[in-house]
Amino acid sequence: MRAKLRFTMFPILIVGVVSAALAQNPGAADENKKQTGAKTSPLAQSAAKPDGDYVGSEICATCHADQQKSFVHTIMGNAMAHPKSALDARGCESCHGPGRAHVDAGGGKDSIPVRFTKDSPNTVEEKNSACLSCHSKGNQLFWRGSPHESRAMACVDCHDVHYGTQAQRYEALGSESRYSAPLTEHVGTRKPQPELCLQCHQMRRAQLQRSSHMPYREGKVTCTSCHNPHGSPNPSQLIQSTINENCYSCHTERRGPFLWEHPPVMENCANCHEPHGSSNPELLKVRMPRVCDSCHDASRHPTQAQTLSSIKNFNRGCTNCHSLIHGSNHPSGNFFMR
Ligand code: HEC
Ligand code: HEC
Ligand code: HEC
Ligand code: HEC
Ligand code: HEC
Ligand code: HEC
Ligand code: HEC
Ligand code: HEC
Ligand code: HEC
Ligand code: HEC
Repeated sequence: MRAKLRFTMFPILIVGVVSAALAQNPGAADENKKQTGAKTSPLAQSAAKPDGDYVGSEICATCHADQQKSFVHTIMGNAMAHPKSALDARGCESCHGPGRAHVDAGGGKDSIPVRFTKDSPNTVEEKNSACLSCHSKGNQLFWRGSPHESRAMACVDCHDVHYGTQAQRYEALGSESRYSAPLTEHVGTRKPQPELCLQCHQMRRAQLQRSSHMPYREGKVTCTSCHNPHGSPNPSQLIQSTINENCYSCHTERRGPFLWEHPPVMENCANCHEPHGSSNPELLKVRMPRVCDSCHDASRHPTQAQTLSSIKNFNRGCTNCHSLIHGSNHPSGNFFMR
């Protein structure tokens, strides 16, 4: 819970404080840690280490030619090959930590500060702080305290780093994709969407198969069209500030303004719709006419007993007459019929 309350800048400050304290008085670091609850990663420690502990990517490549090859042509590898900051210029060691001891030992799994493979002894926090040293802004700004972070997910659970060239990656992802091409320009994910997310979100997998569903299977939307898996300040990790803003971003005609507003529509599209998929037509949460009856129980015709032949029940279609259920601009559209 506490993680949720942490302000994003806070851990960065702590890292600064801890490393500054380390430089002056090594014993003080432990105290600081206890007080703030921050975990010191090898990277944070390395900030206090002299540059001499870094050997440079060229040295790594002498023994790890395969990893060098699988990294250098990725978007990130390419960016680090043309560094814009001292951190970028560290290349391999920006993630794996300073490699002097590892190289002096002639390699080995225990001597490299940070590694990400299955048998890695590093904690999730240590793995993530490697990535967060560069990616703590932009879309990753709200990572700290996000649902995924607080469930101890690592960046590398979703992301692949040594994936070769972009072309190779697209090919690999493409053959894994069950649906249309992944709608994303960022190729460094372990699986294509929505498969990546559906590994855990089984309920959404089921919803995708329902007769009425958002068009993911058709390749028109993807999970990240609406959600930011790195966290957001909005409900349900939505990109937009409210559910309605989310829907308006594509269904712009629903925004209005309307002369006659239907209050539940303006309040929340999810009053009637289930965005991921539903067994009812038009993504309705509840089948017609029950979806209307769920609110309009006291009104005249909806829930009153009707004869079987009543036009009000015909085809269960309240919207046969109230066709502009999302709002009307006609002067006499107060009953949403025109
Ligand atoms: C952006 C962070 C990052 C950078 C930079 C990086 N790596 Fe890695 N490295 C990883 C991750 C993540 C894995 C785990 C790969 C996996 O799980 O598929 C890994 C795995 C490895 C492995 C062991 C796994 C294997 O594939 O056999 C080696 C060795 C390695 N990296 C070396 C390097 C070298 C050498 C460089 C520089 C050319 C480098 N790494 C740059 C993140 C990074
Ligand atoms: C002298 C050769 C040598 C050099 C130079 C070297 N390594 Fe290694 N590295 C090894 C060996 C050997 C292993 C152990 C591989 C194993 O047990 O599978 C290893 C293991 C690793 C692993 C762990 C792999 C895993 O399974 O997770 C990483 C990460 C790694 N090296 C990164 C680096 C980086 C980064 C550099 C540059 C700073 C570097 N290495 C330089 C030989 C070297
Ligand atoms: C030294 C700084 C640095 C570190 C550390 C770092 N990155 Fe990056 N990363 C970059 C840069 C620079 C880019 C290119 C961004 C751009 O062009 O806008 C990038 C791009 C990316 C991209 C988008 C490109 C793609 O291949 O899909 C992903 C995803 C990514 N990084 C994930 C990670 C993960 C996961 C880690 C930790 C294992 C990590 N990064 C660690 C600097 C870093
Ligand atoms: C739940 C899965 C998941 C986790 C966990 C995750 N990512 Fe991502 N990340 C994605 C997906 C999916 C995309 C592609 C988004 C798109 O194309 O719009 C992405 C895109 C990115 C990008 C490139 C585009 C951008 O948003 O700038 C970077 C950089 C990145 N992630 C870094 C990270 C870092 C750092 C972490 C850990 C702090 C992390 N990711 C954790 C799924 C994840
Ligand atoms: C068209 C936009 C949209 C797309 C695409 C979308 N979602 Fe959602 N998602 C929403 C909205 C809106 C909510 C909030 C619904 C609510 O509160 O009733 C939500 C809620 C969620 C929740 C939280 C539910 C809860 O009980 O709090 C999860 C998990 C989720 N979505 C996962 C996914 C996954 C996985 C995908 C990709 C298969 C996906 N979503 C695609 C709009 C979308
Ligand atoms: C490794 C498992 C895993 C993967 C992969 C994963 N998630 Fe999640 N996700 C979780 C867990 C655990 C939660 C927290 C569930 C809860 O609080 O009930 C969660 C929560 C969410 C929520 C709800 C947030 C809220 O505020 O209630 C959304 C939305 C979401 N994930 C979207 C995604 C998307 C989009 C992807 C793919 C890019 C993804 N997830 C991939 C495990 C995962
Ligand atoms: C990223 C764009 C996007 C967002 C955001 C979005 N939609 Fe959609 N929606 C679509 C597309 C594309 C279709 C398919 C339209 C078509 O095939 O003509 C669709 C179809 C629908 C349908 C008709 C489904 C059917 O079975 O005929 C409903 C209802 C709907 N959306 C409601 C919503 C709601 C409610 C939200 C907000 C939670 C939302 N949409 C957010 C793109 C989006
Ligand atoms: C009071 C319940 C209710 C609310 C709230 C609601 N809708 Fe609907 N929506 C419906 C019904 C009922 C249908 C089916 C219309 C029909 O049968 O003619 C529908 C159909 C749709 C369709 C597909 C058919 C079309 O007309 O394009 C979209 C898209 C849609 N709604 C978007 C939205 C959006 C966006 C919101 C939020 C601004 C929203 N709805 C809020 C009841 C609702
Ligand atoms: C979430 C609750 C809710 C749902 C579901 C709902 N409505 Fe409404 N509806 C309202 C509210 C609140 C008003 C405003 C009542 C008022 O102004 O007295 C309203 C107003 C109306 C009006 C105009 C009534 C008047 O006296 O001006 C009509 C017609 C109507 N709704 C039809 C429908 C139909 C048809 C459906 C099903 C597609 C539906 N409603 C679903 C809450 C709902
Ligand atoms: C044959 C056309 C027709 C059908 C079908 C129909 N309505 Fe109506 N509805 C009307 C008319 C006309 C009015 C205007 C007020 C009146 O004269 O009763 C109205 C008024 C309303 C009102 C506002 C006045 C009131 O009675 O409180 C609500 C709410 C409403 N309808 C809901 C529904 C619901 C829910 C359904 C589906 C069960 C439905 N309507 C089906 C024609 C229809």
